[in-house]
Amino acid sequence: MNDTFLRACKGQETDYTPIWIMRQAGRYLPAYHTVRDKITFLELCKTPELAAEVSIQPVDIIGVDAAIMFSDILVPIEKMGAPLEFREKQGPVFPSPIRDQAAVDRLGIPDPEDDLGYVMETVRILRRELKDKVPLIGFSGAPFTLATYLIEGGSSRNFLNTKMMMYNAPELYKSLMDKITECTATYLKGQIAAGVQTVQIFDSWVGVLSPPDFAEFALPYVSRIIREIKEVSDIPVIYFANNGATLIDQSLTSGADVLGIDWRVNLSSVVKTVNGRAAIQGNMDPLALFLPPDKLEKRIAAVLREARGAKGHIFNLGHGIVPQTDPEKARLTVELVHKLSRRD
Ligand code: CP3
Repeated sequence: MNDTFLRACKGQETDYTPIWIMRQAGRYLPAYHTVRDKITFLELCKTPELAAEVSIQPVDIIGVDAAIMFSDILVPIEKMGAPLEFREKQGPVFPSPIRDQAAVDRLGIPDPEDDLGYVMETVRILRRELKDKVPLIGFSGAPFTLATYLIEGGSSRNFLNTKMMMYNAPELYKSLMDKITECTATYLKGQIAAGVQTVQIFDSWVGVLSPPDFAEFALPYVSRIIREIKEVSDIPVIYFANNGATLIDQSLTSGADVLGIDWRVNLSSVVKTVNGRAAIQGNMDPLALFLPPDKLEKRIAAVLREARGAKGHIFNLGHGIVPQTDPEKARLTVELVHKLSRRD
């Protein structure tokens, strides 16, 4: 198996810098549309054979060094008892937002096999089919990011309802976060038992918090999940705090083996701050994939240069690849990362 990705996560030497791409299984690939045209997004997440098929597409088509299971961060949340819809052009919607104690009390903790068996089955199929290729990444949302969807009822601009609850009803907020944290830790341990070889915790919206609010309202819950994972497994844990340049020092205390870094920060400063305490993942601007090939190559070389001195670097974009991307540019990026980073 190509274990370059796992070695880099652990800070071990590699022959070249491994790469995978956030949202690599998705709408920029025509092969994804071929599957998705026949079925809704949530049905796709709940059909293990098809979910496994689209997870493998980017491995075969663009040549990445890891596969990520196809699902969504909101899939386990639905099974806590909060009905979920994905609406065309609008994205995820929870028609009954969680804003009082009675609503929090009604939420349950799903059992990975009994309630989320389709995810566990996707993992098992993928491990079988990927055996001789690349490692498999499992994932979840981080509690803060998941809470924003439940409290706001969907995506948000300024997270008004979330911050109102944090500031004016902290006990309510914390009881919701405790439940989401328990659900997430249980879910990730289920994925690990089913066979994932790394997990990434996506904190997509945490960058809207000030450093003291991050310390009080988000980080303790991420740390608790990582502590629970480490009690049962030694697989690498990646924590991606999007827009989190001011949160890196604190994120290091979460216990994550790898910190995912968005594109708004120069990796050389991250390498200094992290100082060998974690591997780093990132961080090319996803829209750099719209540059002509010669300029794209310069951007890739710059990211590789800035990451020098890191104890482990996994190349990635600073956030998800956008649906309008030309798959050929994604393939070229993988080829160039491998070529430019090769150590001989
Ligand atoms: O390839 C992969 O990375 C695996 C699959 C994956 C999806 N979502 C598939 C998806 C992963 C890891 C996610 C994570 C996810 N989902 C995040 C964290 C990552 C990030 O981008 O910050 C978030 C915030 C979500 C919630 C979510 N799901 C939103 C806001 C949307 C709608 C907006 C959008 O990008 O379309 C989704 C839908 C979604 N999740 C799609 C895919 C492929 C598009 C659905 C479709 O096919 O119509």
